Amino acid sequence: MTESDLRSLLCQLAASLFARGFSVGSAGNISARLEDGYLMTPTNSSLGRLEPERLSKLDRDFRHVGGDKPSKEVFMHRAFYQARPDAGAVVHLHSTQATAVSCLPQVDPANPIPPLTPYFVMRVGRTMPIVPYYRPGDPAMEPAIHAAALSARAVLLANHGPVVSGRTLTDAVYAAEELEEAAKLFLMLLGRSPRLLTPAQVDDLLATFG
Ligand code: 13P
Repeated sequence: MTESDLRSLLCQLAASLFARGFSVGSAGNISARLEDGYLMTPTNSSLGRLEPERLSKLDRDFRHVGGDKPSKEVFMHRAFYQARPDAGAVVHLHSTQATAVSCLPQVDPANPIPPLTPYFVMRVGRTMPIVPYYRPGDPAMEPAIHAAALSARAVLLANHGPVVSGRTLTDAVYAAEELEEAAKLFLMLLGRSPRLLTPAQVDDLLATFG
């Protein structure tokens, strides 16, 4: 995909997320890997009204080289790209249900949302750990996210929201959407002892769909 196509796709997908309430105000940020660096949403921008030519451009060392000033969460995105060479994009949202789960002290911090449905497992993977709370934009979050991302495609930032990676921008957005749906199911079923997918079923999904 050319840089120009990726710019347009990022703005389209971001607008779709915003239109469906996955992001409000100026919350959330999205990045995508280019051959010579990264595209990133500008800081304080609404995902609903991005302009392709104003997206921030970063070089391979994450230095700002074009467009508007990048998101204050560059560290968060860099942690994923450096931990996961296969990541082509990273999506951070404050989507309501996933963020609600991130505020529950009783969940398992290693894997707060159990395998309830196949698409959560296929898109998000086997585990999605909780990373402790850091102030938005705090560079101190980078090592914690990096360590968690070595073995997970997505993490949940405590009292903040999800960060999800994918091989492509579309994959990362789909995974962020599946995560929000899984969080909704998890909250609906809290205290009800739902049947979970078995470890063998999870293995089968990951072996079949990666
Ligand atoms: P930016 O506007 O700097 O991208 O920050 C938004 C956000 O979601 C902080 O976590």
